[in-house]
Amino acid sequence: MSAEEHRRLETIAVHAGHAADPATGAVNPPIYLTTTFARDSEGNLPHGYIYARSDNPTRRELEHALAALEGGETAIAFASGMAATAAVFQSMLPGEHVVAPQDAYYGTAKLLRDVMAGWGLASTFVDMTDLHAVAAAVRPETRLIWIETPSNPALAVTDIARVAEIAHAAGARCVCDNTWATPVLQRPLALGCDLVMHSTTKYLGGHSDLTGGALVSPADDEWAARLRLLQGLGGAVPSAFDCWLLMRGIRSLPWRMRGHCENAAAVAGFLSAHAAVETVHYPGLAFDPGHAVAARQMAEFGGMLAVEVKGGAEAALAVVRRVRLFTRATSLGGPESLIEHRASVEGPESRTPPGLLRLSIGLEHSVDLIEDLDQALVDATGR
Ligand SMILES: Cc1ncc(COP(=O)(O)O)c(C=O)c1O
Repeated sequence: MSAEEHRRLETIAVHAGHAADPATGAVNPPIYLTTTFARDSEGNLPHGYIYARSDNPTRRELEHALAALEGGETAIAFASGMAATAAVFQSMLPGEHVVAPQDAYYGTAKLLRDVMAGWGLASTFVDMTDLHAVAAAVRPETRLIWIETPSNPALAVTDIARVAEIAHAAGARCVCDNTWATPVLQRPLALGCDLVMHSTTKYLGGHSDLTGGALVSPADDEWAARLRLLQGLGGAVPSAFDCWLLMRGIRSLPWRMRGHCENAAAVAGFLSAHAAVETVHYPGLAFDPGHAVAARQMAEFGGMLAVEVKGGAEAALAVVRRVRLFTRATSLGGPESLIEHRASVEGPESRTPPGLLRLSIGLEHSVDLIEDLDQALVDATGR
């Protein structure tokens, strides 16, 4: 193994896609703001690029960085996480079947139910923490099992290696949405998955300033080629500027994740002992139902947590109204801590407990975050 192949993730994150520009020596790569590429006098394309929807040098650099980060052979970048997810389902055929988590990200479940069902792709939603339920949901026409772990918003932990085994025994592929864990904390390809999906809008971008998605494949095979075709023909591609911003975000990802994990562990510990709190969902807590599996397959436990406040929706919304440092906003993975009452956001179809608040723990000082939550909880509930 060469020294380059042996490099650790911090080093890969800093250097992948960041060679000095051969034309100028610029240490940071240029942003190629062009939609088209010139042919030579013979009509050839000397650099291999033809049109920005099909490919763009900034996007190609990003895709190299994403593949290196996830330990895959090839990566395909999209304009959002949902665009990446849609390409996976569009690569399947009518009559095929998907097994997905019952608490999958709201958009993933809605896409399967409200869009893909209409073109003949059937789906079954199961509790992915129950391996018997996963195996029982598999049908002869099942071609894909979709994992999301830790899940959004209840932080359920799925045993990736075991579910990948169930998928492969059934002749199906296994895809993992690794958005919440990131490649820093969890390596789905090494655990047997056939594809990793990311909303790069979150931790990979890391600054709440871009929207993006990615698929990372362990092989540049026929399926990867089909997904790349869907990228170019579907056209949900990221702008060159967003690709560049994402590469910048990736450089600090491993170090940012340390801060997110450290802060989230401190906040989860504090909340789990608070009189106003019913339950804390955080796989780092020893009593969390997902702790044992998470400890096996994650390096650390992540920056996301959910808290159920005593008193249900009314009390939870009262807490949200009273925070001063947390920002009331959807999304996650940025430097600023966010709080959200998920059931309100998800609407009447939501399966989320009414008293649940989802917290994206940012990079502020954990003591300031804890003080803010404490004053909001005490003021809202009197406990
Ligand atoms: C786990 C997970 N997957 C996918 C998505 C969708 O990503 P995007 O908003 O970039 O389309 C989200 C967004 O919150 C998410 O949390």
